[in-house]
Amino acid sequence: MRIVLVGPPGAGKGTQAAYLAENLAIPHISTGDLFRANISQGTELGKAAKAYMDAGNLVPDEVTIGMAKDRMEQADAANGFLLDGFPRNLAQAEALDGILSDAGLKLDAVLDLEVPEEEVVKRISGRRMCRKDGKHIFHVEYSPSKTDGTCDICGGELYQREDDREDTVRKRLEVYHTETEPIIDYYKAQDLVVTIPALGKVDEVTQRAMGALEREA
Ligand code: AP5
Ligand code: ZN
Repeated sequence: MRIVLVGPPGAGKGTQAAYLAENLAIPHISTGDLFRANISQGTELGKAAKAYMDAGNLVPDEVTIGMAKDRMEQADAANGFLLDGFPRNLAQAEALDGILSDAGLKLDAVLDLEVPEEEVVKRISGRRMCRKDGKHIFHVEYSPSKTDGTCDICGGELYQREDDREDTVRKRLEVYHTETEPIIDYYKAQDLVVTIPALGKVDEVTQRAMGALEREA
């Protein structure tokens, strides 16, 4: 399946993507994780992205679309993928349609994770990420690490993201409303959107999403 995951910052996209990609045996492609990996490796792409991310703004489309396209080609889009954090504005959604139609492919579903804003703020302020792997995600209250300050899965150091500061989170939410939400209507017009209520335990949300995908298939 070819799936896009959307939802505000902190909705649980990365958390759900890890389980959904494993259940569906498709690659999880997160543009946020790709940018963070480039930053930690000190690449030119990472240097170009960092200031935008730290300010809570979108990285320019010229950088983002090329990076996402390369990653999809590497994964071989024909075998399916789960996109997390891409597309994030109408230009990116149109570019993705172009990339897929050139390959004779289509999206199967767009999962919209719905979470009230006050919950999103709680989730982001307590989030701790693993330095070794962006897919190991913890929360000081909701899913604490058992090994105090380190990742239970791989032993990596846990850290708080630079862009999880309160003022940057407010900016990211504003950017979500103005730039990203319009893609939901764009995909509704293609009858692809499935809204998933994303409050509740992580595994309950995964079950809701899997149930919705089975009904779509
Ligand atoms: P990105 O990394 O994509 O960040 P985001 O969209 O803001 O989303 P987050 O990673 O903050 O949250 P999430 O929904 O994945 O939640 P998570 O699962 O971690 O992008 C970062 C930046 O990169 C952007 O601001 C931009 O600058 C740039 N960028 C990325 N893609 C781009 C693009 N396409 N174009 C341009 N720029 C781009 O969960 C959050 C917390 O909640 C965790 O602590 C988790 O443990 C907890 N949690 C999750 N589920 C539950 C649950 N059910 N109950 C309780 N707690 C839960
Ligand atoms: Zn880890």
